Amino acid sequence: MYKINKLGMFLVVAFLAAQGPFFNALADHDKHKEQKHHHEKEVRGETEDDDGDYLVAVNNPTYIENCGPCHLAYPPDLLPSESWNKILNEIDNHFGETIIIDPDSKKVISEYLKMSAADVSSSEVSIKIMKGIKGQPPNRITEIPYIIKKHHEVSLTVIKRPAIGSLSNCAACHKGAGKGNFDDDGVVIPN
Ligand code: HEC
Ligand code: HEC
Repeated sequence: MYKINKLGMFLVVAFLAAQGPFFNALADHDKHKEQKHHHEKEVRGETEDDDGDYLVAVNNPTYIENCGPCHLAYPPDLLPSESWNKILNEIDNHFGETIIIDPDSKKVISEYLKMSAADVSSSEVSIKIMKGIKGQPPNRITEIPYIIKKHHEVSLTVIKRPAIGSLSNCAACHKGAGKGNFDDDGVVIPN
């Protein structure tokens, strides 16, 4: 009996001794990963608190003038360039609206959108948007799997409220949308 206990104790001690360095190595690895993450955020000009939900604060006057009167002048980094191209090429038949834009303005808008589109942006939202898009470029922001997923808890009854109307009306709920802030902390759903 005594002998077995001693052997048991020896095994437990040996087991713990063997695990020690292993757990230490794991902890070091995590710490290293955290430091690397912190460094990457600093390079992009983000702080630790900022979880990367900021998109482009739209400031191009031609874009705002032509694409902002009916809905938010959507931040370019919400759609890949291919989607923007398609929207601009079919602007005379735009979700039931006929929109006329002079060729020079169209060129300015096209360049502006392409420069910060989701496929070239390094914002966290853009990266998540691009991850979920497979095959065809989306026709709408509200068709993007990541955007659908983020709003699955928002009911149709809420969306149909007069102050909202449609999920495309981002600024109704995202109070900082005009500044590119879509953080969930900035959401106020109108009654
Ligand atoms: C005359 C009004 C009007 C103008 C001007 C206009 N749009 Fe739209 N746009 C609409 C309507 C209406 C919809 C559909 C909204 C809905 O389904 O609720 C829409 C939808 C969109 C969507 C899809 C939103 C979603 O549901 O994801 C994008 C992107 C878009 N417009 C981009 C543009 C761009 C780029 C321009 C300028 C070149 C522009 N719009 C100018 C009326 C307009
Ligand atoms: C009816 C109100 C409403 C409208 C309209 C709306 N959103 Fe949201 N959105 C929300 C809510 C609520 C959340 C937070 C979901 C959660 O808790 O994760 C959210 C979350 C998000 C997030 C994720 C933010 C984060 O911190 O994880 C993004 C990005 C976003 N919305 C973009 C958009 C865009 C782009 C549009 C317009 C095309 C839009 N939303 C329209 C209510 C809305």
